[in-house]
Amino acid sequence: MSVGRQSWHPERYARNARFVSDLGAPVLALLAPRRGERILDLGCGDGALTEKLLAEGAEVVAVDASPEQISGAQARGLDARVMRGEALEFEQEFDAVFSNAALHWMKDADAVVEGVARALKPGGRFVGEFGGGDNVGRLRRALIAALDRRGHDGAAADPWYFPDEAEYEAKLAAAGFTVESIELIPRWTPLPGSIDGWLETFSGAFLSHLLEEQHAEAMAEVREAVREELQDEEGRWHADYVRLRFAAQLTGAR
Ligand SMILES: C[S@@+](CC[C@H](N)C(=O)[O-])C[C@H]1O[C@@H](n2cnc3c(N)ncnc32)[C@H](O)[C@@H]1O
Repeated sequence: MSVGRQSWHPERYARNARFVSDLGAPVLALLAPRRGERILDLGCGDGALTEKLLAEGAEVVAVDASPEQISGAQARGLDARVMRGEALEFEQEFDAVFSNAALHWMKDADAVVEGVARALKPGGRFVGEFGGGDNVGRLRRALIAALDRRGHDGAAADPWYFPDEAEYEAKLAAAGFTVESIELIPRWTPLPGSIDGWLETFSGAFLSHLLEEQHAEAMAEVREAVREELQDEEGRWHADYVRLRFAAQLTGAR
């Protein structure tokens, strides 16, 4: 893994993070895809949720920055393409853009929102959910501290963009969207295994600043820092997720 990089592995993602797409039902319901609509799934991952859009009768193009995740999505028979959210290459061709659990990985949010506006037909919808506010705050602070303690700049290694409602609404409005709903939703989430699985899957951008032989020790330190708050009496681990869920319509001129 190169320094500062988060890498994605479809098998590990399925093992440690299937709950991410499983918890996508409410945002799919908010999108309410209609038969025959052309929809872009932005940051589609391994395509588990994209398949649900197809099942509703929509025509779907799925994009993701990770070639590995896109291979996983293509193996499901999806029209899936490697593309960064900050550099979308579409012009007025979609009825809706959908995104689950991906926009917080794209730090240049202005470029993303502008690209989404360009990709939509006039009147098109942008509906999504991603990390907002103090999302995974305990884990994030423990990861930053683990890097700082080893002489690195933990805050600079932080790969995430977690806005609140007002900040993201302003970005959407600036790109010509009318925001129909936007809310922060605290979602304490049980994990399928130990916190180590979560750290292995999601904290690569932090850990990659350390030497390989420091990873286990840093992870153990993070585990102990969050144990009291994130592990319950039965030994089950949770993540302190907060999601920002929104629905917007392209109404303004671009
Ligand atoms: C937690 S996964 C969510 C995947 C899927 N939407 C789901 O609900 O399971 C986040 C995805 O965002 C993708 N991603 C991260 N940065 C990206 C970027 N700059 N542009 C496009 N996709 C990106 C990752 O490759 C990863 O597949």
